[in-house]
Amino acid sequence: MSTQSDIKPNTTSSLRRMKEAGEKIACLTAYDAAFARLADEVGVDLVLVGDSLGMVVQGHETTIPVSMEDMIYHARCVARGNRMALRVVDMPFMSYASPEQAVANAARLMREGGAQMVKLEGGGAAQVETVEYLSEQGVAVCAHLGLRPQSIHKLGGSYRVQGRDEHQALAMLEAAGALREAGADLLLLECVPGLLAAEITANMDIPVIGIGAGLRCDGQILVLHDVLGITPGKAPRFTRDFMAEGGSIRDALRRYVQAVKDASFPGPEHTF
Ligand code: KIV
Repeated sequence: MSTQSDIKPNTTSSLRRMKEAGEKIACLTAYDAAFARLADEVGVDLVLVGDSLGMVVQGHETTIPVSMEDMIYHARCVARGNRMALRVVDMPFMSYASPEQAVANAARLMREGGAQMVKLEGGGAAQVETVEYLSEQGVAVCAHLGLRPQSIHKLGGSYRVQGRDEHQALAMLEAAGALREAGADLLLLECVPGLLAAEITANMDIPVIGIGAGLRCDGQILVLHDVLGITPGKAPRFTRDFMAEGGSIRDALRRYVQAVKDASFPGPEHTF
């Protein structure tokens, strides 16, 4: 029988063990202490202080205006409420354009914001070098492939599924391998066809977390505001409004965690 003292905070190692055991990893974004506390209470394994805060909290059109100061402020708020879930913080746009800049800014997110892991977008040669540099300095890193919202203008201005054609799919498989080789501890796949995400997940010895990447990733993440059904405009296809079933915010978050754990979310209707 497990007692209160057996329950330990999540770490990169505990998430690896969950992957090995085939236990789904439930992840959620959080931007303040109240929701970080609730996330712990309902059993979320990882909280991400996402730069999505630029859109869902600050009301911007994209994540590009988000600054280091914004990330540190929200990371600190989350750190005050969070005890159990692994705390990951996004590196904002242009805060990791060189390995040296990335190390300096990751240090700020860890020292001033309390980050336990940092996340950065992309899998080109520059990002692979940066992940290697961060990793060598003892920084835990989550890499982010597929749709990269910080590159929205480069991607043609719309939030679209990535990796649909063979060339793109192969490039993503290679990038995932290179990021892992460089020392990434976790990989997030956003808006990737389910079959490609499944292949990447099977090839990796680190946990792969999906958002719009199908059921066969090791875990799932959603933006808090999507789970609560309060994101303005049309909800992306890969999200589900867990508040629509009624009850309290706490009930909705509990239902989300349960649905990830028992693999009833995402369903085929949420998958590309
Ligand atoms: O910023 C964010 O919230 C993200 C999502 C993909 C989870 O990176």
